Amino acid sequence: MTNHRICILGGTGFVGHHLVARLAASGYPCRVLARRPERQRDLLLVPGIELRRSDIFETGVLEEQLKGCTAVINLVGILNEGGGRTFQQVHVDLVERILAAARAASVPRYLHMSALHAEATQGTSRYLRTKGMGEDLAHAGTDVQVTSFRPSVIFGPGDGFFNRFATLLKITPGVFPLACPDARFAPVYVGDVVSAMAQSLDDPGCVGKGYDLCGPRIYSLKSLVEYTADLIGRRRMVIGLPDVGARLQARVFQLLPGKPFTMDNYLSLQTDSICGHNGLEELGIRPQAVEALVPGYLR
Ligand SMILES: NC(=O)c1ccc[n+]([C@@H]2O[C@H](COP(=O)([O-])OP(=O)(O)OC[C@H]3O[C@@H](n4cnc5c(N)ncnc54)[C@H](OP(=O)(O)O)[C@@H]3O)[C@@H](O)[C@H]2O)c1
Repeated sequence: MTNHRICILGGTGFVGHHLVARLAASGYPCRVLARRPERQRDLLLVPGIELRRSDIFETGVLEEQLKGCTAVINLVGILNEGGGRTFQQVHVDLVERILAAARAASVPRYLHMSALHAEATQGTSRYLRTKGMGEDLAHAGTDVQVTSFRPSVIFGPGDGFFNRFATLLKITPGVFPLACPDARFAPVYVGDVVSAMAQSLDDPGCVGKGYDLCGPRIYSLKSLVEYTADLIGRRRMVIGLPDVGARLQARVFQLLPGKPFTMDNYLSLQTDSICGHNGLEELGIRPQAVEALVPGYLR
């Protein structure tokens, strides 16, 4: 194991918490940049973690924070624009800043979190296109050694998928109207995602590569929501909306606080989130199944 000192951006989110715990347990000192560190007291309890307040979009901040690090990991991402930040700023411009800062601070290694089917021109939504642009940018240079990860929807304790549907099912009586019921996913376990990232840090064979990450089975969105309802013991009739209803739901819900479902989310769901070739297998990681783990944290 190389004696990495790792700077993590987006370490305060769902994947970030799992990754920080994994890296710390492997003995890597980690510097986590947070815009609101006072909300991250749990991270302070992880041994070897240095939590630093930073506005990563401010000029010069990244160069300063990357000093003394040997690797940088970027998990920053948004599903909707808001809070004064656009997809372009968060998914593309930030990558440019990270690479420039890594060069300035002589950080040789960069792990980049993208998304399955992120494609700069062919992506069906602005989320997927900007994720694709950011990933292309990450791989464009030669001076920083880059590996990227392209997961399907990620599940595990604290996830925003099963937990979110569980909450919605609890507050929706009787019939649950679901947009894009036939959209397909291969949910991947967060533990497998962070294993892939941790393992690739020191593997020269991973440099320059992007890994699609999927779980072992494919499900329709409707079957996953019905499964969630069963697990939490709520009998709900899940009704798949026709396309026109799904678009209408997105147009209305994107006006609500927190934007629970937007037109851009709808457009992302037009691409099945399933792998042709699963990078976990290439990395020698056996993907964990939804049925083995979700009951343990959702019930
Ligand atoms: N979860 C999935 O199913 C999934 C699937 C495919 C790809 N991904 C990608 O994986 C990455 C991590 O996902 P996640 O589920 O862990 O997301 P998350 O829980 O929403 O975490 C996102 C992270 O990005 C940070 N962030 C967002 N906007 C920021 C801004 N303007 N300035 C500074 N920090 C900002 C958040 O900081 P705060 O804590 O301060 O908000 C948080 O640390 C993302 O790039 C996402 O696109 C996730």
